[in-house]
Amino acid sequence: MRYFIGIDIGGTNIAVGIVDEHGTLVQKLSVPTRSAQGLDAMLEDMVSACNAVRELAGMKKEEISSVGIGVPGPVTREGVVIRAVNLGTEWSNLNLSAVMSSALGMPVYLANDADCAALGEVISGAGANCNSALMITLGTGIGGGFIVDGHIFSGCTGQGTEPGHFTFLYGGEPCSCGKRGCFERYTSATALIQQTKRAMEQHLDSKMWALVDNDIDAVNGKVPFDAAKMGDETAKAVLEQYVDYMGMGIASMTDTFRPELVIIGGGISNQGDYLMIPLNAAIRKYAFASDVIAPPPAVRATLGNDAGIIGAAMLEVSAEKASKQ
Ligand code: BGC
Repeated sequence: MRYFIGIDIGGTNIAVGIVDEHGTLVQKLSVPTRSAQGLDAMLEDMVSACNAVRELAGMKKEEISSVGIGVPGPVTREGVVIRAVNLGTEWSNLNLSAVMSSALGMPVYLANDADCAALGEVISGAGANCNSALMITLGTGIGGGFIVDGHIFSGCTGQGTEPGHFTFLYGGEPCSCGKRGCFERYTSATALIQQTKRAMEQHLDSKMWALVDNDIDAVNGKVPFDAAKMGDETAKAVLEQYVDYMGMGIASMTDTFRPELVIIGGGISNQGDYLMIPLNAAIRKYAFASDVIAPPPAVRATLGNDAGIIGAAMLEVSAEKASKQ
């Protein structure tokens, strides 16, 4: 049996795991993402986390075939991070595979984090047996991955796709990428938090104030859902708008690409049917000719945060399979 290490660099945590050749996660751990402490601190954390997870699994370095890393930004085929806007400016034009490979003494494969999550979900999650899928992860940013013929569609330059940054609204909200109106500025967890705070400021009678002990900085992506379930009208209106934005953007993508399935991951997807039922209705509302052409179903990712680890770990296997096709 071959084993691989997968690293998923998230805005909040870096998750690291050991995965076998069938895509089963056998050991994992996570450490906080210290992006404010700079690049070197994060590189050190990643190296120690790889060693720690291997030791936890009782495995020697020689038993690991390679390390795969999912990065929250576009990467090149050569293993260079082009930029990762949500991690800081040091993450631009960074040869992460070379740095990590020399620190770990193992081959390192790199891909976009959402592409890794998409691969993980089609290998062992919600998209198992699916030939084509669109995965959207709702986190600090919006990640997106297209799977075609069971593989990541990474485009002619190999850098993957950026569905979080298609222009959703001309001249809209400023985005950390430097553009305006990006899809992630309306539908990421960060955007939901901002929309919630704005609504709270306009509705001082909202139950959401009590949920955060009157501390607006304590608002997270769960607060509007909790308050809406308690019947709070302000929270319900925030979510209605948020899900409508999401349905409109996803319908535009599925009209363009026509995948079999849409898989929704990231922290917000933990809301389950409370999110997925209205989201499917919103996709139908905006999809082209949906009265005669059924849009693909949107389902919740089943691997949670493990999808990114599994997909990253399987990058070597996926590259081997792709080269044989
Ligand atoms: C980045 C993507 C990434 C996503 C989730 C976006 O802002 O541009 O590359 O997949 O955030 O981390």
